[in-house]
Amino acid sequence: MDKNLLVLAGTGEISRRYAEGVAESLGLEIYNVENKVFPDGESYIRIPELPDNNILYIQNLDPPQDKRLWEALLALDKLRSQGYNVILVTPYLAYSRQDKEFLKGEAVSVALLLRLLRSLGAEEFYTIEIHKMDSLRHFAGRAISLDPYPYMAGVLADKLPHPSDVLVLSPDLGAIDRARRFADAFGSEFDYIVKRRDRVTGEVYMEPKEIPARGRSIIIVDDIISTGGTMAKAARMLLEQGATDVYAVAAHGLLVGGAVDKLRNSGVKRIFVGDTLPPKEGVDQVELYPVVAREFEWVNQHGAS
Ligand code: R5P
Repeated sequence: MDKNLLVLAGTGEISRRYAEGVAESLGLEIYNVENKVFPDGESYIRIPELPDNNILYIQNLDPPQDKRLWEALLALDKLRSQGYNVILVTPYLAYSRQDKEFLKGEAVSVALLLRLLRSLGAEEFYTIEIHKMDSLRHFAGRAISLDPYPYMAGVLADKLPHPSDVLVLSPDLGAIDRARRFADAFGSEFDYIVKRRDRVTGEVYMEPKEIPARGRSIIIVDDIISTGGTMAKAARMLLEQGATDVYAVAAHGLLVGGAVDKLRNSGVKRIFVGDTLPPKEGVDQVELYPVVAREFEWVNQHGAS
C-alpha cells in the first residue's frame, strides 16, 4: 500500500467518535459513510466521493450489532467494487465470544464474521482486545487485537489504590495474560481465579482458590462485562476472603440488564471500562481511540507494507 491514508467513519456514534479521535491524532482527512434507515427499517448506505487513498474504515459493532454488521458489509462491498484498499478497524467485535461449538450444532459466529469481512474486501483487520486471540486465524489477512490494558493502567493510575497494595486478578486461568498485561504496566502482582460456566444455563461457578486477597485491594481485569455475573461472583468471593475493596476493569462494557446494580450489590467499588460500547450510569469509561491511533502512527508516516 503506497498511498496516503484517510479515515472513513462508519455508522453509529461510537464509530464516528473513534474516527474523529484517530483522524485528529494522525492529522488525517476524515469522511463519513452516509446512512439512513428506510421507513420499513432497512438500511441505506452511501460511500461519499473519496480521493484515491488507502482507507482506514472505522466501523464499530455495538448494539444493534446485526444492523451495524449489515451496514459494514454494505460499505465494504461498495468500497471493494470501487477498487479501494481497506483497513478495517472494529473497536468492539460483536459475536467474538461464540468462538467455538460449545454445544453440538452451534454456529461459530466469530469464524463466519471474520471470513465475511475478509471476503468483502477488508485487507487488514484491527480490533481491541478480542475475546480469544486464536479467533483471528479466521481472517485470512493481517489481523491484530490491540492491547488496551497498559494504556488503561496509565489512565487509571490516580483513580485506583497504590500499586503496592493491589493484586490484579483475571476471573479465570485462560485470561491470566490480561491480568499480567495490566499488572505489568500498573506495577502490581497478578494471579487468577478458577471459573467454570455451565454452557446450557450460562451460570458461572467460582471455585475457592487460595488467593492472598486478605487486606489487599483487588482489581479484576476481564475482556468484557456483559451480565456482570462473572465479576459479581468474583467480587463477592474475594470480599468474603478479606479483600479490602474490589475494582472491576474491562476493555468492553456491555453491562446488559441490571449488570451495574449486580456489581454494586456484590461490593464492587468502581467499574472502569473502555468506551467501545454505549456509556452506562455509574460506570467510568476510558477513551481508547489513542490505542488505535498509536498503531497507525508508523503506517501513516512511512506507508503500509
Ligand atoms: C468469558 O469468558 C468472558 O471473558 C467474560 O468473563 C464474560 O463474557 C463476562 O460475561 P458476564 O459479565 O455475563 O459474566
